[in-house]
Amino acid sequence: MSGVDGRVIVVTGAGGGLGREYALSLAARGAQVVVNDLGGARDGSGKGSAMADDVVAEIREAGGQAAANYDSVATPEGADSLIRSAVHTFGAVHGIVSNAGILRDASFGKLSEENWDAVLKVHLYGGFHVTRAAWPYFREQRFGRIVLVTSTSGIYGAFGQANYGAAKAGLIGLANTLAVEGAGRNILTNAIAPLAATRMTSDQASEEVLAGLSPAFVAPVVGQLLREESVENGNVYVVGGGLVQRVQQFQNAGVRFDAPPTSDQIAAQWSAINDMSAPIPGADPRE
Ligand code: NAI
Repeated sequence: MSGVDGRVIVVTGAGGGLGREYALSLAARGAQVVVNDLGGARDGSGKGSAMADDVVAEIREAGGQAAANYDSVATPEGADSLIRSAVHTFGAVHGIVSNAGILRDASFGKLSEENWDAVLKVHLYGGFHVTRAAWPYFREQRFGRIVLVTSTSGIYGAFGQANYGAAKAGLIGLANTLAVEGAGRNILTNAIAPLAATRMTSDQASEEVLAGLSPAFVAPVVGQLLREESVENGNVYVVGGGLVQRVQQFQNAGVRFDAPPTSDQIAAQWSAINDMSAPIPGADPRE
């Protein structure tokens, strides 16, 4: 067995858009795929089984193996049920793509607590619930591959997306710690920030721009991170429209003070503290 052949991989939110593409391409490469989708609208309202069922039918017609699941990743019960269904149907769980997502955009002054909570629940809590449910299986078998789906909105911020950006940045924080805690047991966690034409982005760019952003550009990178041979851990990739980039945090050499500095000493060094002309890869100063 190599690559993803024979591996059981759960793709959340796989009933459409990018998740569908991930599921199709993983199944085409021999993975047994659990196609999870709540089947609701872009804002998370409603639900249904047709979206997941259609993708499973498509995979089976192409000769692949897949099973549908309609649980919501936004609750611990839903995520537990999802992972249990993978193990029940295929006998194991080897990988997760935490991809399910909704949008409730509003400028910060108009952002309601309800819309803050709803977005965090699906993206950040969804990532937490699903990886937590699979973690004991990964530890036990000393193997796991996790891809958390983040966004450039989380890395850089985006107007109207305080809820979404906070959730997506939180997923990078989650990936960083899972990478540290899983490394000893071959549980590898990475994050991708995709860019693709889906229902989520249908009104966010011109038709001309969207035409060049097929989800098919993103799926092979997700597949690469799920491979048995993969060694990457704790990395973030921005992927879309034919460009695949790794993103990393950098810092400057800093200014050291041997005693607690006065405000005036900070002010005197302020431009040196802010000078990013000689960046070095970011690292935990405790290490
Ligand atoms: P999409 O709306 O087509 O796909 C999201 C899927 O998640 C939908 O099929 C939806 O039914 C499902 N879903 C929503 N809530 C769920 C829940 N509670 N439980 C299970 N499934 C649920 O959108 P798209 O673009 O395919 O997004 C996929 C992921 O990629 C999302 O996490 C999104 O934030 C992220 N992303 C997409 C970008 C893009 O350019 N399309 C840009 C950056 C990030």
